[in-house]
Amino acid sequence: MDLQLIDKVALVTGGGMGVGRSICKRLASEGATIIVNDIVAERCQAVSKEITEDGGAATPFVCDITSLETLRKELAQITQQTGPVDILVNNAGVVPERRTGEIGRPLFVEMHDKYWKKIVDLNFYGAMNCVSIVGPSMMERRQGKIISIVSEAGRIGEARMAVYSGAKAAVIGFSKAIARELGPYCINVNMVALSAVAHESPIAGFQKISATVETDEVLRKVLRSYPIGEGLGRLTRPEDAADAVLFLASERAAYITGQCLGVNGGFAMM
Ligand SMILES: NC(=O)c1ccc[n+]([C@@H]2O[C@H](COP(=O)([O-])OP(=O)(O)OC[C@H]3O[C@@H](n4cnc5c(N)ncnc54)[C@H](O)[C@@H]3O)[C@@H](O)[C@H]2O)c1
Repeated sequence: MDLQLIDKVALVTGGGMGVGRSICKRLASEGATIIVNDIVAERCQAVSKEITEDGGAATPFVCDITSLETLRKELAQITQQTGPVDILVNNAGVVPERRTGEIGRPLFVEMHDKYWKKIVDLNFYGAMNCVSIVGPSMMERRQGKIISIVSEAGRIGEARMAVYSGAKAAVIGFSKAIARELGPYCINVNMVALSAVAHESPIAGFQKISATVETDEVLRKVLRSYPIGEGLGRLTRPEDAADAVLFLASERAAYITGQCLGVNGGFAMM
């Protein structure tokens, strides 16, 4: 199937690990040139290297996306080499800190306000900053795909993740509004909503990709606390998210906009 990604330039924020890394690799495998953004230089370089070693095209882009003017200046330099961004994946996001093996996140009223800002800055301002910078060029060229990685927490609200739920809900509302504004310019704006992801992140909730309800007591506890039972009985894999992003970034999804696609194994059914 031709997904028509050859010659496209994709900016993936937070592409240095976890879900972002998988998205970078998946889009690259279909021929897109990837601008691998991360705040951590070694991560950007490692993912770019993996892609080029696999025969793809990638440029590392070390930048803090919460800083609008720095992002604008530095992305302009990168796109001089790569060409303008055709696909923006707003992936960088912070999940409230949890200790592996425990379900010990604070209630909102116990949470220090210094964490509120961090969570809103990265999840919401990060996405707004990127859209404000790449949007005008997409509008001029009358083409573009904007995909934001959100969380089911932003759609259903999750206890002990109140600020994060709010920040992701903000991204969802923002994306729908932007989909209406940019639709007339042939730009698709969509979201992928994930439930708990298993990957190598030191701050992600779960690190055992192989965890299933049969083998993992912590997972069993968490899934039991979910509102609708156990669904497919495993955690989300980064590749699950990457496949959904690939579809939404392709011309196969040309008539889909303003939608939030749940990639959640049955955790939430909208
Ligand atoms: N992990 C989960 O269980 C889960 C569940 C639902 C949704 N999500 C969402 O999926 C997305 C990816 O999550 P993940 O678990 O892969 O995250 P992660 O923490 O593993 O990776 C995020 C990457 O973003 C980078 N980053 C952090 N701040 C940055 C900044 N200011 N500028 C640029 N890069 C920055 C980090 O260095 C890191 O490499 C996020 O939007 C997250 O909210 C994750």
